[in-house]
Amino acid sequence: MGAYWIEGGSPLRGELCIHGAKNSILPILAASILTGGVCELHNCPRISDVEAALQILEHLGCRTEAEGQCIRVDTYEAVSRPIGSAMTERMRAAIIFLGPLLARFGRAELSYPGGCALGERPIDLHLMGLRHMGASCDSGEEGVSCTMEQPRAGVIALPYPSVGATENLILAATACPGETVICNGAKEPEILDLVSFLRCCGAQILVQGSVYRIFGGNALHPCSYRIMPDRMEAVSYLAAAAATRGDISLTNVCPEHLTAVLHVLSRGGCEISRGQGKLRLRCDRLCAVSPIRTAPYDGFPTDAQAPIMAALACAKGVSVMEETVFSNRFLHVPALNDMGANIHASRRYAIIHGVRKLHGAMVEATDLRGGAALVIAALAAEGKSRIDKTEHIERGYQDFSGSLQSLGGKLTME
Ligand code: EPZ
Repeated sequence: MGAYWIEGGSPLRGELCIHGAKNSILPILAASILTGGVCELHNCPRISDVEAALQILEHLGCRTEAEGQCIRVDTYEAVSRPIGSAMTERMRAAIIFLGPLLARFGRAELSYPGGCALGERPIDLHLMGLRHMGASCDSGEEGVSCTMEQPRAGVIALPYPSVGATENLILAATACPGETVICNGAKEPEILDLVSFLRCCGAQILVQGSVYRIFGGNALHPCSYRIMPDRMEAVSYLAAAAATRGDISLTNVCPEHLTAVLHVLSRGGCEISRGQGKLRLRCDRLCAVSPIRTAPYDGFPTDAQAPIMAALACAKGVSVMEETVFSNRFLHVPALNDMGANIHASRRYAIIHGVRKLHGAMVEATDLRGGAALVIAALAAEGKSRIDKTEHIERGYQDFSGSLQSLGGKLTME
């Protein structure tokens, strides 16, 4: 159980290099199972979700080696084994192993990913699509067991552009001889990074907006690949700079992946300049922005909701946020109010009455982005705060406290 002590009130200033994307490395690690050889991945974030994914790969008979930001995975001796609850609870995204295990071995067994703070995390869309490909999936009390003896190509229309379901279906479709078409797929940049990795492994995949055409049935080979930058890590530091009225520059970042968030920040009065792989944000006091509605890409990302809310807590005026992706993603609001914010949240809407100043408090992180939001608020607050359960934050941010310290943030890890 980790904790941060934070002394607020210092504007963040300086330059930071963004790490590789958590939501890209996780499906790509699972996809490496399809290659049956040694894949070398670069620009990998060293976070606990990645350690959990490596543990699952080793459980499946793979050999892994991590050195700095480089990870090598040898999946030659991989086998399909049941992935138990100890592993799926440690990493919700373990469901992403379903597709590659079915594609390579024709069977897969996973305990349900643990209950999650953000609300029910069903996998019905994953199973619906896999069944279209000829899989038979038996979902019991504890988990799901699937076989796919005769994978078949076909057309799958997702009723909702689920990120994980789109990824699992693309991975499973690599084993289906012929052309599989996925309609209304999610378009998050991390999915295009997965497609780009698969193409490096010899997969034939066409992408037209939300339609993915996978020409499957051929063996894939290992490759060396560089993971894309983490847009959500970038958002969190931009929100922290805005909240503390700072001036920061980010490198190893893709501004084109952040259009919706940058639009909100500039509407809030931030001065933003972009360069090739670079972003700079300067901010005096933020103004309220309303309405902000989370949506699948390329709308305003749900993962940006909590960090940006923390910055808007001290904005001039009233902001309104609507959370349309997850059913329970305002868990950070009570702790922000403990720090002097004035936010009223229902299940879907949050009304943020900007206050002049927040004050330090003892609070607890509830989830990954909510935890980052509490750190952002504590950096902007007057006085000292203690943020408990920072293991939630370590899941998705490499050296979050060290990075913020390098920008002048006064944090110590307990
Ligand atoms: C991915 O989760 C990300 N995780 C999440 O990031 C992100 O918030 C989410 O996409 C939305 O962008 C990873 O990539 C590892 P979904 P995922 O399937 O795939 C419902 C973070 O902060 N749904 O797009 O689980 C679901 O309940 C994490 O880094 C079904 O109903 O998201 C939710 O309401 C948090 N049935 C909505 O769709 C299904 O079968 C979006 O879920 C699947 C999903």
